[in-house]
Amino acid sequence: MDGNGRWAASRGLPRLRGHMEGTESVRAIMEACVEAGIEYASFFAFSEENWGRSAEEVEGLMKLMMKAMKDELNTLLGNDIRFVVIGSRERLSKELTDSIDDLMAKTAGGRRLTMIIFLNYSGKWDIRQAAARLAAEGGTDIEPYLATAGIPDPDLMIRTSGEKRISNYMLWQLAYTEFVFTDTLWPDFRKQEFLAALEEFASRDRRYGKTK
Ligand code: FPP
Repeated sequence: MDGNGRWAASRGLPRLRGHMEGTESVRAIMEACVEAGIEYASFFAFSEENWGRSAEEVEGLMKLMMKAMKDELNTLLGNDIRFVVIGSRERLSKELTDSIDDLMAKTAGGRRLTMIIFLNYSGKWDIRQAAARLAAEGGTDIEPYLATAGIPDPDLMIRTSGEKRISNYMLWQLAYTEFVFTDTLWPDFRKQEFLAALEEFASRDRRYGKTK
């Protein structure tokens, strides 16, 4: 969800205003996913590396996410959405983890869409923690130990704002994912462009390393 900061700066607004507008895009895309019959939608909200931003921005983002979680309970329940948060719990406040646990428990029965927020996540962290548990338990397959266990690998990844990197997102899970890159800043990324990205995805020839 890149480009919130630049969206705000181009309007002479504080960065946090960009994140607030970005939250509106999250809602729009979530609703578009429900309408389109998509079963899993993931949003990379905060990376391990994002702790390196100013305390003001980090605190503002955490507060914004907590507020969104409180405000969206009825929308999630009304749309039959299961809410899941994936990432390290280290460094998150108890108030935030309590809100997360509460929302996850209340929406656990959601069947239409699983909405996953990656929070304090990095792909290398995930592989490292999975490998440590795999070694400790003597298993042979890493997948059941990944934080995403039970969730299918993504079919499509969309990255906004002209950035063309993975930036330590789901390094293992993106192995055969199709990528769509757009110059649009996240706060401006809404339903119409999302549907266009789905069209683009539908035209891709997925061979998974095989011939046809
Ligand atoms: C990246 O843009 C965006 C973030 C680091 C934060 C994304 C989080 C939200 C939109 C809030 C999500 C809320 C919920 C409920 C999931 P950037 O700040 O790197 O922008 P820039 O590249 O223009 O500086």
